[in-house]
Amino acid sequence: MLRVLSGMRPTGRLHIGHLSVLENWRELQEKHRCFFFVADLHALTTAFDRTEEIKGNTREMVLDWLAVGLDPEKSVLFVQSRVLETAQLHLLFSMIVPLGWLYRVPTYKDQVQQFREKGKDIMTYGFLGYPVLMSADILLYRAEGVPVGEDQLPHLELCRELARRFNHLYRPVFPEPQAILARIPVLPGVDGRKMSKSYANDIPIMAEPEEIWRRVNAMITDPARIHKTDPGHPEVCVVHKYHRIYTSRRLAEIEEDCRAGRVGCVPCKKLLAGSLEALLAPVRERRKELEAKPGFVEEVLREGTRRAREEASETLGLVREAMGI
Ligand code: TRP
Ligand code: SF4
Repeated sequence: MLRVLSGMRPTGRLHIGHLSVLENWRELQEKHRCFFFVADLHALTTAFDRTEEIKGNTREMVLDWLAVGLDPEKSVLFVQSRVLETAQLHLLFSMIVPLGWLYRVPTYKDQVQQFREKGKDIMTYGFLGYPVLMSADILLYRAEGVPVGEDQLPHLELCRELARRFNHLYRPVFPEPQAILARIPVLPGVDGRKMSKSYANDIPIMAEPEEIWRRVNAMITDPARIHKTDPGHPEVCVVHKYHRIYTSRRLAEIEEDCRAGRVGCVPCKKLLAGSLEALLAPVRERRKELEAKPGFVEEVLREGTRRAREEASETLGLVREAMGI
């Protein structure tokens, strides 16, 4: 049994791309001691000027977590900023992390540049220190396994280096956490771009059947097909990318019918909408039940945060002792 920890920024209602991530977390909670948190401080590193959305987004996201089956009896579910120990450990780490390590994180300069193109300056102390905050998140619970996407690997590498540096400077307190990489399929949004709520090209986990259909109907198909009898090329079609995952049992038949010009794109989309509805309906129903219980989400987070703080203050005690402060 490992100590496993992961976090997600509070983006509000989650989309189908997050579903596989959550299913992975749900499996991990069966075997390991799991901590999952809402990374609201991480949201502040880039969205410090849009704080009014954070509370509502936290609630919406945690409802999705619970609806998918994260179980507060099995996992510790909490909010990052409510564990004050996070800020303390981040401060102590900031004393020992060389600036060069932070400037060298490969995503740093790219991200600053991307935001600059959108007219926003994120050359802040907090954004540069993002990986230090992430290290504090992980090491505060002395986590050994961290389920993350590949984009987070450089941050995790820095976290390990920081753990080693601390252990070497003072005394061994921290394990060196390893990534748990799952095979998470990356699906495009309905317009073929990256799936994101902000592009309105996503399929929310809580989507009602009409919304599922609206999104599926908007999916980009093979542009060479004008008439139903035109032979299609499933490899260029967004609908097909979804069928590969969600209608996989009938994939061969779908591909053949498309290539032979035997099926129109509308019925092909109807079939996909049906697959998605079968997948999402039970989650949506469960979400509605949970949403109707007054104070439920708050109660889960309060209890989770209490448990998280117990663990965190124990680690912080060891840290202070090791440092002699
Ligand atoms: N940085 C992660 C992301 O953007 C979220 C995150 C913050 C995280 N702290 C973490 C993930 C600690 C794993 C462990 O996706
Ligand atoms: Fe895509 Fe289906 Fe149309 Fe083929 S028939 S182009 S797979 S939507």
